[in-house]
Amino acid sequence: MTRLRPGFLWGAATAPHQIEGNNVSSDWWAREGLMPGMERSGDAVDSYHRYPEDMRLLAEAGLNSYRFGIEWARIEPVPGHVSRAELAHYRRMIDTALQLGLTPVVTLNHFTLPRWFAEEGGWLGEQALDRFASYVEAAATILGDVPWVATLNEPNMLAMMITAMRAFRAGQMAGWQSPTVEGEAAPREDAAAEETRRPPVLPPPDPEIGRRLAEAHAVAREIVRQHTDAGVGWTVANGAYHALPGGEQKLEELRYVREDLYLEAARGDDFIGVQSYSSQGVDADGLVPHPPHPDNTLVGTAYRPDALETAVRHTWEVTGGVPVIVTENGIATADDERRIAYTGEALRGLFTAIDDGIDVRGYLHWSALDNYEWGHWEPTFGLIAVDRETFERKPKPSLGWLGDVARRGGLPGA
Ligand code: FCB
Repeated sequence: MTRLRPGFLWGAATAPHQIEGNNVSSDWWAREGLMPGMERSGDAVDSYHRYPEDMRLLAEAGLNSYRFGIEWARIEPVPGHVSRAELAHYRRMIDTALQLGLTPVVTLNHFTLPRWFAEEGGWLGEQALDRFASYVEAAATILGDVPWVATLNEPNMLAMMITAMRAFRAGQMAGWQSPTVEGEAAPREDAAAEETRRPPVLPPPDPEIGRRLAEAHAVAREIVRQHTDAGVGWTVANGAYHALPGGEQKLEELRYVREDLYLEAARGDDFIGVQSYSSQGVDADGLVPHPPHPDNTLVGTAYRPDALETAVRHTWEVTGGVPVIVTENGIATADDERRIAYTGEALRGLFTAIDDGIDVRGYLHWSALDNYEWGHWEPTFGLIAVDRETFERKPKPSLGWLGDVARRGGLPGA
């Protein structure tokens, strides 16, 4: 059996906007009414009020960690006004996790922004870095004993979304529905497209935006380091891209703007979050969309549990050995046995990477709960199902399975 580091994190992950409900001061809340084909987050799964139950279910199953986010739009609903009540709310979440034996991994920003910040120009606005810095200063006051803090979630996806929003506003993206895993799933109306036809994909992220986000990360890292003992990092979406015949050169170029720029920016960090779901080939023309296949997940991506090992190895290489936490890995499926099979396979790959000496500190499954997948409710990633009318939680077999893996520190039969 693979030797894991003492204190290895076994947990599940969430993001505030996807589970809390009524994030009314955020840019996403405003956007949900505007974009074609997008469902609303609404009450989400009311985890804003029900987080003690959610955390208890994870702890009782055998997990020892929970990654969740704090919501800037709630903490600072208008510029410069910090809500002490909301800070106290998130502090209670941290305390609840600690009391239950769940190591908190706290994300400072998981895609959503205060609406006023978005209206000032968002991450590209003139005051963006100062604004973010003052939010992080406020947040740091409750993070003193949190061991792991992630500044920005998936800055590379974020850069892709900002790039796409610009194109959408310019009317260049009629077929686009919403950002989804790795941003490469075919828009729904193209799901049946023949393999030879390339459905429209999101444009690659503009590297200028990436560099701005890297500055924001560095600013936040300094503040968190000054005020807390937390290990700080950011979490990067990993596409586990690989070259198809003739695609070697293209792979290098494409991977730099989509991934490596963000991994290089993590070189001075205490950890790097790896987020992996599927993998994709690259040929001389670029990314080859996931071909339609009965095995594809509910977000249209190929079933590739082997992606995690590739992602971890690539991340380790590009960061030059920054300790890894798998901050997201999972599958959108209505079939929980498939979730177990996928996760078992992904963990086998992760263990192989650890056996080879890669320093991995934890595995946090996406997601604790079935939740609002950025515009859609249908793709279910959760270890726990939720009735969206009564908010009743129903743990799936995969939660017990992952809890057992956590308790024994390895896969059954290993
Ligand atoms: C990642 C996001 C997360 C969730 C999963 C499925 O890109 O960080 O919020 O949507 O994909």
